Amino acid sequence: MIKSILIALAILMTGAKLHGQEVNLYSARHYDTDDQLYKDFEAQTGIKVNLLEAKSDVLLQRLEKEGKRSPADVFMTVDAGRLYLAEQQGIFQPVESTVLNERIPENLRHPDGLWFGLTKRARILLRSKDRVPEGAISSYEDLADPKWKGKVLIRSSSNVYNQSLVGSIISAHGDEDAEKWCEGLVANLARKPQGGDRDQIKAVAAGEGDVAVANSYYFARMINGSDEEKAAAAKVAVVFPNQADRGTHVNICGAGVTKNAPNKENAIKFIEFLSSDAAQKVFAAGNNEFPAAANAEVAPVLKKWGPFKEDSVNAAVLGNNNPKAIKIMDRAGWR
Ligand SMILES: [Fe+2]
Repeated sequence: MIKSILIALAILMTGAKLHGQEVNLYSARHYDTDDQLYKDFEAQTGIKVNLLEAKSDVLLQRLEKEGKRSPADVFMTVDAGRLYLAEQQGIFQPVESTVLNERIPENLRHPDGLWFGLTKRARILLRSKDRVPEGAISSYEDLADPKWKGKVLIRSSSNVYNQSLVGSIISAHGDEDAEKWCEGLVANLARKPQGGDRDQIKAVAAGEGDVAVANSYYFARMINGSDEEKAAAAKVAVVFPNQADRGTHVNICGAGVTKNAPNKENAIKFIEFLSSDAAQKVFAAGNNEFPAAANAEVAPVLKKWGPFKEDSVNAAVLGNNNPKAIKIMDRAGWR
């Protein structure tokens, strides 16, 4: 009797071990299509994805609190500025993966493999179709030209997207000129910075200003959004800035393996899976983003805008410039 119970227990435990493969994901992304992908990963590999979803700073606080005992294997967040904060907190470990090094372009991953970009978003300009002819504005630098006084709409400097944009300006022109650029931009604002990216686009549609700065996926979302958003989107046109020189500023959503990952191998497998062509297509389309892998399929709504030249500065540089960018924006009076 006791023997058979022990055998049954042993079988149960082996079973639990066989089926106990898992990866614990802390993610600041929140799209239903992601969940389906995680199920696909489980079906393919037998590794269950345990997802903890929250805002980036909440997850970072939790990681800090959990310390070495954290169950997290993978930390995923949006924007190079936030990846940099995670890096500064020391939560990542370097990963050497031939698959990821081949799949993800060099400028979209950390030089030491601390994190890997999985999707891209471009910080584009949206011009009023009525008031701004095609070609009248073509670069970020133009936004600081007095010609656009009272016409520019952009959100607050506390937003990480703008901090990374300024990080890219610092990288292109140096600190001093980046500060002058910020001052010029502030002098051209149509109104005190308020609202999110979509609010800037809507304000151009409503005639409050002539050109807005926003992440590409917000505009794509408006094109497929409510009737009100569609109507606003129809009044503006996409401008990919700096096509004649360094290219448009792009940022990433990225993920890295945590320092004390209990399931390190699974974590690497999971990020590698997300870099595959099939996963890239779905993962990027879930938020109307561009895939990070070079040949993965781009969502139809984005394809219509055509190909564009991207600023090839490493996303890690944008993060490293973040503290400087914040100071520069503050000094320039960008609220
Ligand atoms: Fe966003």
